[in-house]
Amino acid sequence: TSLPPVIAIDGPSASGKGSVAERVASHFGFHYLDSGALYRLLAYAAHHQNIAWSDAAKVASIAADMHISFAHGEVLLDGLQVSAQIRSEQMGKGASEVAVHPEVRTALLQTQRNFRQAPGLVGDGRDIGSVIFPDACLKIFLTAAVETRAQRRYDQLLQRGERADYAAILADLQQRDLRDSQRVAAPLKQLPDAILLDTTDKNIEQAVAIVVEAFKKGLQS
Ligand code: CDP
Ligand code: CDP
Repeated sequence: TSLPPVIAIDGPSASGKGSVAERVASHFGFHYLDSGALYRLLAYAAHHQNIAWSDAAKVASIAADMHISFAHGEVLLDGLQVSAQIRSEQMGKGASEVAVHPEVRTALLQTQRNFRQAPGLVGDGRDIGSVIFPDACLKIFLTAAVETRAQRRYDQLLQRGERADYAAILADLQQRDLRDSQRVAAPLKQLPDAILLDTTDKNIEQAVAIVVEAFKKGLQS
């Protein structure tokens, strides 16, 4: 018996991973793992327990204890709905700070692997294809120019009715890109066996179509 197939979509912040991964999952009727949400949840839980994001041991112990579930596109922490709270820029920053600790990443490893269930899984993050599911049958490195990504985040905030400052978002993304790619534990990088998908000039539908075709092609070969 073989394990259910995994499509891994990794890449930098605001490249479109979540939007693309969710649509690809629904196209094939696969499960979806938003691994960034787990790091965001952890940053949120630590913040609420007055634990510093830099305290690797304490943050890792919360990771081991917290009860996470996903229901109808909503994220639940110990049964409470926290989707909106974890989407803030502050928790994005917190996520990228707790994510540098190797013990924190290890604490979340099995939680992520448990998402691999029939008929298949689409996972997005930074290390889905490198660490979580190195045997994924399709690996995509989704990226876009940093200015394009900053513009997307800016539009997203305005749509939510929040204040947005393009220059601050751009600076934050550049800092986050550096932290994600230069850390020792599971750094963000394009794998030799990953397909590069640059969405600077592509909309979500075009990106989804490319991933869907690549997966179907893989099935035939
Ligand atoms: O949406 P965005 O790409 O900004 O963030 P996210 O995917 O929700 O992830 C938030 C942060 O968690 C990222 O900046 C990474 O530092 C970290 N992360 C990670 O280290 N590994 C993953 N597999 C997913 C997220
Ligand atoms: O998950 P990640 O942070 O990589 O990105 P996302 O949350 O899926 O996408 C960030 C924003 O960019 C969303 O508002 C998407 O609708 C938008 N987007 C886009 O305009 N064109 C794309 N090709 C991909 C995403």
